[in-house]
Amino acid sequence: MNDTILRVEQLSVSFATETDRLTAVEDVSFRLHRGETLGLVGESGCGKSVTALSIMRLLPQPAGRIEAGRILLQETDIVRLPAADLPGLRGRRIAMIFQEPMTALNPVHRIGRQVAEAVHLHRPELDERTVAREVVTMLEKVRIPEPAARVKAYPHQISGGMRQRVMIAMALAARPDILIADEPTTALDVTIQAQILSLMRDLQAETGTAILFITHDLGVIAELCHRVAVMYAGRIVESAAVEALFRSPRHPYTRGLMAAVPRLDRTPKSPLATIEGTVPALGTMPPGCRFANRCPQAMERCHRAPPPLTEVADGHAVACYLYS
Ligand SMILES: Nc1ncnc2c1ncn2[C@@H]1O[C@H](COP(=O)(O)OP(=O)(O)O)[C@@H](O)[C@H]1O
Ligand SMILES: [Mg+2]
Repeated sequence: MNDTILRVEQLSVSFATETDRLTAVEDVSFRLHRGETLGLVGESGCGKSVTALSIMRLLPQPAGRIEAGRILLQETDIVRLPAADLPGLRGRRIAMIFQEPMTALNPVHRIGRQVAEAVHLHRPELDERTVAREVVTMLEKVRIPEPAARVKAYPHQISGGMRQRVMIAMALAARPDILIADEPTTALDVTIQAQILSLMRDLQAETGTAILFITHDLGVIAELCHRVAVMYAGRIVESAAVEALFRSPRHPYTRGLMAAVPRLDRTPKSPLATIEGTVPALGTMPPGCRFANRCPQAMERCHRAPPPLTEVADGHAVACYLYS
């Protein structure tokens, strides 16, 4: 049985600068299975959004370029898809929601019309009245109160949390195979964030849509995801089932991230444990493990060549010489 819906294989992405090309994502591989939520986690700037935009073929042009690798949506390699086929991919097969829904919603159109367009994309045969009913159903699904009245609102007339719900409704209206959520709750306050996460968990269970959930917050991963891939400086350094990762994190970077997650059993005033140092800049990536300069356990060989991602337990892989 093959339940893999998306396979990213050895993806490398670069950006042009005035003088040369800088690699933002290097040799990234992961699989997304049907019906699961895969978390992609790492500090800001580690390549999460670039990975997501590559999958959507939305890299900023002409600077961004996929240098190597394949992105297989079932049998189709997205990397090699002709431009003419992209509209059939985006929205329909893979939908994406972003941190700031205001950038994706059209400010001059009522919410109802925007959701209706998404419904129409998936089922162009529906007549206007059926679409209107479907729009209200979608808004109900994402738990927007009084949906029949809200369809007339403009995006600026509703809260950030409500806008994110509208985005989710639009994304799911086209019944995509995959939903990519790039930090969808980062801009929201904590209570609203919890509501959106719980909504996404319920919708995922109900629709079975595979979700690639991107966040810098391991706490969010624990709430929502089945499996997780940890990124650092453009590479995946560890991947595992969520329980396994939290039970026995292997990579020193993952351990550092975990120590930085706020916990109820720490007094609010104590500073969070953080990882010393900073992520190397794109043009100055070291030849070995990219975390070596911050790693408390770095050895001599870590500075020489990058450790390969190696399976250390069933479904648990880590790129670290401590384990090989
Ligand atoms: N349009 C761009 N031009 C040049 N560099 C970019 C561009 N977009 C992203 N980058 C660089 O690629 C790296 C990864 O960025 P990104 O994927 O946005 O990180 P994040 O994990 O925070 O989503 C960063 O170093 C960023 O500066
Ligand atoms: Mg990002």
